[in-house]
Amino acid sequence: MGDAFPIGIKINSTDQLEGALTEEDAMEMIGIIDQTSIDLIDISGGTYFPGAPASLDSSSGSGPYFVSFAQRAKQITTIPIMATGGFKTRQQAVDAIASGAVDMVSIGRGMALNPNLANDWLNIEGGDSKFPRFATNPLGGVTAWYSMRLTALAEDNEDAFDLDLESAMSTYYARDEARCDEWRQVFGDV
Ligand SMILES: Cc1cc2nc3c(=O)[nH]c(=O)nc-3n(C[C@H](O)[C@H](O)[C@H](O)COP(=O)(O)O)c2cc1C
Repeated sequence: MGDAFPIGIKINSTDQLEGALTEEDAMEMIGIIDQTSIDLIDISGGTYFPGAPASLDSSSGSGPYFVSFAQRAKQITTIPIMATGGFKTRQQAVDAIASGAVDMVSIGRGMALNPNLANDWLNIEGGDSKFPRFATNPLGGVTAWYSMRLTALAEDNEDAFDLDLESAMSTYYARDEARCDEWRQVFGDV
């Protein structure tokens, strides 16, 4: 990429999975990354391992998830630190940066709801994304819903997107299953 191209790395602060990466492991990893020329460390958590919570399944209330870990990380590296997970309002983002805990924040779902969010936060008072409230919270359901939301954006069809969680999950898993069939046909002999 050359020296002028910034490279960030997204790492977990914890996998939230027994026997997997812990916060102490993650701190050690940050110490190692600190000795490299990486330009940005993005702190997140969770995993797609079946049955394990993803970061967006986090039950840690309504605020951003990994800011306190990010703050610890910042003390052992001079590489800029970004936190991902749970930022829903401009104020939360501003507060995290103003507190010095992080240098940047990143947004997943908020931008899937409104890809223009960064501009709105710069220009519009109260321009936060309106997060859907789901009546149920099956594991993997939120990821499936947002995946289908991203699909709708890609197909330029987001205005008509009105799937509930259960429909999103069944569409998402059916699509995955169909893809698996295709892969098995192509790579089945490998
Ligand atoms: C549909 C969807 C797909 C995602 N895919 C990835 C991925 O491939 N790699 C990754 O590191 N995180 C992935 N994430 C997690 C996000 O990067 C982010 O950590 C998570 O959504 C929490 O941030 P948020 O609260 O701003 O949404 C995904 C999230 C969603 C909603």
